[in-house]
Amino acid sequence: MSGHAAPVPMTAHPSGPLFGTADVPGDKSISHRALILGAMAVGETRISGLLEGQDVLDTAKAMRAFGAGVERVGDGDWRVHGVGVGGFAEPDHVIDCGNSGTGVRLIMGAMATSPISVTFTGDASLNKRPMARVTDPLSLFGCQSVGRAGGRLPMTIVGAEQPVPVRYTVPVPSAQVKSAVLLAGLNAPGQTVVIEAEATRDHTERMLAGFGAEIGLEETDEGRVITVTGQPELKPQAITVPRDPSSAAFPVCAALIVPGSDVLVPGIGLNPTRAGLFETLREMGADLTYEAIREEGGEPVADLRARYSPDMRGIEVPPARAASMIDEYPILSVVAANAHGQTNMRGVKELRVKESDRIEAMASGLRANGVTVEDGPDWWTVTGMGAGGVPGGGLTHSHLDHRIAMAFLCLGLAAQAPVRVDDAGPIVTSFPVFEPLMVGLGAKMERTGR
Ligand code: S3P
Repeated sequence: MSGHAAPVPMTAHPSGPLFGTADVPGDKSISHRALILGAMAVGETRISGLLEGQDVLDTAKAMRAFGAGVERVGDGDWRVHGVGVGGFAEPDHVIDCGNSGTGVRLIMGAMATSPISVTFTGDASLNKRPMARVTDPLSLFGCQSVGRAGGRLPMTIVGAEQPVPVRYTVPVPSAQVKSAVLLAGLNAPGQTVVIEAEATRDHTERMLAGFGAEIGLEETDEGRVITVTGQPELKPQAITVPRDPSSAAFPVCAALIVPGSDVLVPGIGLNPTRAGLFETLREMGADLTYEAIREEGGEPVADLRARYSPDMRGIEVPPARAASMIDEYPILSVVAANAHGQTNMRGVKELRVKESDRIEAMASGLRANGVTVEDGPDWWTVTGMGAGGVPGGGLTHSHLDHRIAMAFLCLGLAAQAPVRVDDAGPIVTSFPVFEPLMVGLGAKMERTGR
């Protein structure tokens, strides 16, 4: 989706209580991986609960271009006819991954050890993001890449004819980089080893084990050492995608800051590598409970219940927790603005290279709504104004970033005056039903003229 779609301006107004059940869509990270590993298995993988957001649809389209059969058979129900590890055909057109860093980086990994050449592109946001973090380790397998200055898309990857296995220490905490190397290792002979100092989301490892790959995990002084044995035959799976904790974060946080709210968000994935936000909110004093904790499709799941919490306090968010809540800092900063005292977020340099520079985007939008924010290269501090204390009334810019748009719309629900977002269009990449779902709970938000 790299066309220049017309902007979708929206306004969120101070709202009455949010109330009811919020059925958020499937997990974006798991959805990408289900399609890609399904395409690398031999036979038919069945997926239910797939996120039908634009990012994932772009990955589905890419898998078709590599020769896999990818078919939608119902709401969230998909079938993937895989071509086997090493079976990718060379696409006859450019692979457009739209807004999705996860999509492009995982697919680059999956194709890098096959003897095919592929050109990747994306939208204006994705084409600014760094790709050397994946092409550097992929070059160790023997593939080559040519992109724009600074390792930017559009970029062509010439896959390795005779790949060799790799041992690689990931220099930044990134599940995308780790996963790209593991997926490349699938078509290299022998054992590929990835070492990460900080644990990042482990959906690739879990799913590889489910598909029958030989995958080892060891906790050492260096960090987590993950070993995958190359050239397995992956067995097709039936995958139930849990609902996305990163999407659940929006109705949960909105309920915490809108007076009188009581919202249930069922079936949310609570993989410990993803659940850092909920732990942080509870430390801040949020009335957030887990109900009916269970396991679905190899992932821990619970129903989340969030009630209005006017007495939340700012905290020091432990940097060691950053990887487990990296996508949730924008909405956390909105909660922090409605808490008492300062919330310090440190060790979050990665936020600068997401769909937007998320520290800059949130800091300037919060300031435009009367909130004091200080920031540095890898940290930022929000000074809370207490429940209902945010003046609002500002225009914010989403910078082609879905999570920035949703965070500011949630801010507007609890502010004293409406908050405008210049373009809420990118929300379709991860949470296409955000607007009707929030309105159904009682949120006042609408599309507005420019
Ligand atoms: C993701 C990893 C994270 C996260 C992104 C999804 C994944 O990115 O921000 O939304 O599915 O692997 P990084 O690997 O850049 O940290």
